[in-house]
Amino acid sequence: MPVIALVGNKGGAGKTTLAVNLAAGLARHHSVAVIDADPQGSALQWRAISDDASAPPVAVAEADLQRQAITLLQDYHCVVIDCPPSVHAPQTGAVLGFGDLALIPVQPSPMDLWASVHIEQSVEEAHKLNPSLRTLLVINQLEPRTTLSRLVRDALSEIAFPVAATAVRRRVVYRNSALQGKSVFDMGRRGADAAAEIDQLIQEVTTT
Ligand SMILES: Nc1ncnc2c1ncn2[C@@H]1O[C@H](COP(=O)(O)OP(=O)(O)O)[C@@H](O)[C@H]1O
Ligand SMILES: [Mg+2]
Repeated sequence: MPVIALVGNKGGAGKTTLAVNLAAGLARHHSVAVIDADPQGSALQWRAISDDASAPPVAVAEADLQRQAITLLQDYHCVVIDCPPSVHAPQTGAVLGFGDLALIPVQPSPMDLWASVHIEQSVEEAHKLNPSLRTLLVINQLEPRTTLSRLVRDALSEIAFPVAATAVRRRVVYRNSALQGKSVFDMGRRGADAAAEIDQLIQEVTTT
């Protein structure tokens, strides 16, 4: 799974959170680099406040993202790319054209689900160019006991994408770790449940 992209059509869905935490989880087994392809630069910011020299490096996006990813793959097993919050952004278009796996975080809310319908068209286009691209919606910020969250899985079945069996829950540790430039893997017992679900997501996307 050399190139994993976090894409979507909405800010706040969890692309950067998942990019950084997936990279940290993958880095426990492989060498990983992150490309921050979102001009907002949140992943770069995250890395900048980290005091952990062994955390995965975050690179500024270059004009030719594909060439940049290929170059990084000479030194790293895996490249995680954090995309801007629009499928119409040139960076997202480029990444869908060469990535292996596009993960699309969606919050369990109707607005987010509607926004993901636009992704469907863009992904269909990308498939013509890059038939091996896999796309998977990831429910993020799930609150298991709410009716909304229960309804979301049904609503998602109407969208033409597969949905990851692993959902990521809303947990304070995702925010707290980010404030310190850390991943949930660096948070000890407070991060254990989050780390377990990120590991599970990694397991799911790398083995199926
Ligand atoms: N599973 C989660 N639990 C709690 N907070 C989360 C979770 N995922 C994301 N967040 C928070 O939601 C906000 C938006 O997430 P972010 O990753 O920046 O989204 P995006 O990159 O898609 O704009 C951030 O404040 C982040 O800390
Ligand atoms: Mg972001």
